[in-house]
Amino acid sequence: MCEPLPKEKTMELRKKHIGPSCKVFFAKDPIKIVRAKGQYMYDERGERYLDCINNVAHVGHSHPEVTKAAVKQMELLNTNSRFLHDNLVQYAERLTATLPEKLSVCYFVNSGSEANDLALRLARQYTGHEDVITLDSAYHGHVTSLIDISPYKFQQLGKEAKKDFVHVAPSPDIYRGEYREDHPDPGAAYAKEVYDIIAEAHKNNRKIAAFIAESMQSCGGQIIPPPGYFKKVADYVHEAGGVFIADEVQVGFGRVGKHFWSFQLQGEDFSPDIVTMGKPIGNGHPMSCVVTTKVIAEAFGATGLEYFNTFGGNPVSCAIGMAVMDIIEKEDLRGNAVSVGNYLVELLNELKERHPMIGDIRGAGLFVGVDLVKDRQLRTPATAEAQHIIYKLKQKRILLSADGPHRNVLKFKPPMCFTKEDVKTVVDEIDEYLTVMEEVAGNKTKIITNGNKRKENTETCNVVSVKEEKSLSDNTQDNVQENVCRNGSRFSSKKHEAKRIRT
Ligand SMILES: Cc1ncc(COP(=O)(O)O)c(C=O)c1O
Repeated sequence: MCEPLPKEKTMELRKKHIGPSCKVFFAKDPIKIVRAKGQYMYDERGERYLDCINNVAHVGHSHPEVTKAAVKQMELLNTNSRFLHDNLVQYAERLTATLPEKLSVCYFVNSGSEANDLALRLARQYTGHEDVITLDSAYHGHVTSLIDISPYKFQQLGKEAKKDFVHVAPSPDIYRGEYREDHPDPGAAYAKEVYDIIAEAHKNNRKIAAFIAESMQSCGGQIIPPPGYFKKVADYVHEAGGVFIADEVQVGFGRVGKHFWSFQLQGEDFSPDIVTMGKPIGNGHPMSCVVTTKVIAEAFGATGLEYFNTFGGNPVSCAIGMAVMDIIEKEDLRGNAVSVGNYLVELLNELKERHPMIGDIRGAGLFVGVDLVKDRQLRTPATAEAQHIIYKLKQKRILLSADGPHRNVLKFKPPMCFTKEDVKTVVDEIDEYLTVMEEVAGNKTKIITNGNKRKENTETCNVVSVKEEKSLSDNTQDNVQENVCRNGSRFSSKKHEAKRIRT
């Protein structure tokens, strides 16, 4: 173990030796976490933070059973998958048992990015095609091949950044997208967009290797695809000779409660051709996996190239992965995701009745988004307000984040041991901040209109001026936001950050 350093020294060394594009949460006053347990993290002073966002610590931070499994196997052996080992095959058997029967072949890798990169290789090798259809606002990983197919990232680099082999389909967002909750069949309508993209690509002599999507979009703003969407897309993509890749890196392993995999929310008539897994799979241990069909795996193998991965599928990682699966079952964490997730949505819905700033609440299990708006009719994103809430919560030692293309969606994806009490704590705080912001917005409207009379417009909540909002949107994702909330209010003159940092 390293010697503990004073926080200032940690910051100084980090500035000196760690790449500047590696960001910290709350850059002006970062948090130094020294230990964690369950859904709680503790800083160097022993202050406890409630973790509402860490879907990596899936079964809870520092779960003793995970540690025990790791230590036990490390004391015995750790080596690569060129040797026979029971952990590898038994873990593969256990994982594939959770999936539709056709998904029976595993490749173990080390990160979500590695998994998606390999998924692209599999798709391209199997289909002999190159092009990829991805969703708007999607993020699939940090390596070159994935920045190319992650509009969330490459769109920040300007219009030229989109490669010719990449096709961006609209996010199937029924709250903000073109086809909304009042559309008779938004799933079919969004799938038709993919159909049109394929037709256009074919006109240009391009061929589709894969459609890739998160089973529920996370960075994209906690989007739950409408019913029937994946099945229809898969049909169109298969007709074009391509494959369907479901990215379960953020949302897999029972987070939705009712199912083990989020794509299963789309019904039994849908099954992807490739599934990628990461983050929760090892509860913080760096491991990940790609699961595919026998035919795709055989096509990949037919090149004669060996696939070797030094760390992928080592006995220690497999032991940890197995422990995570055991705990999900033993502690009924899927059941917990259902009951605690439902309670969260119930309390948020109560807030929605009182707070016009809540535009939409969407989620499944312990994956919930709260879309904040300035105006319910226009659905104007309340970006700065969302950042303000995140900032205020941090002061109360509650860690939440906001994401989506407008960074106005509060996102909940806590460790699966999150409790109803935790839900109550965080929702009560949000209630308070919304009340204050709406009061200020009301006062502001009063001043703007005619002196004494408060304007009774319950649907409007303009906390941030147009000028401030412009400066906000002009900022790049990681810039520090200063004074984004109205000066003179109870929640003003603080420095907030409007940033995109994901776990
Ligand atoms: C949906 C999704 N896919 C892939 C990745 C990449 O995973 P990793 O950071 O482990 O490489 C991420 C990371 O945030 C992600 O959110």
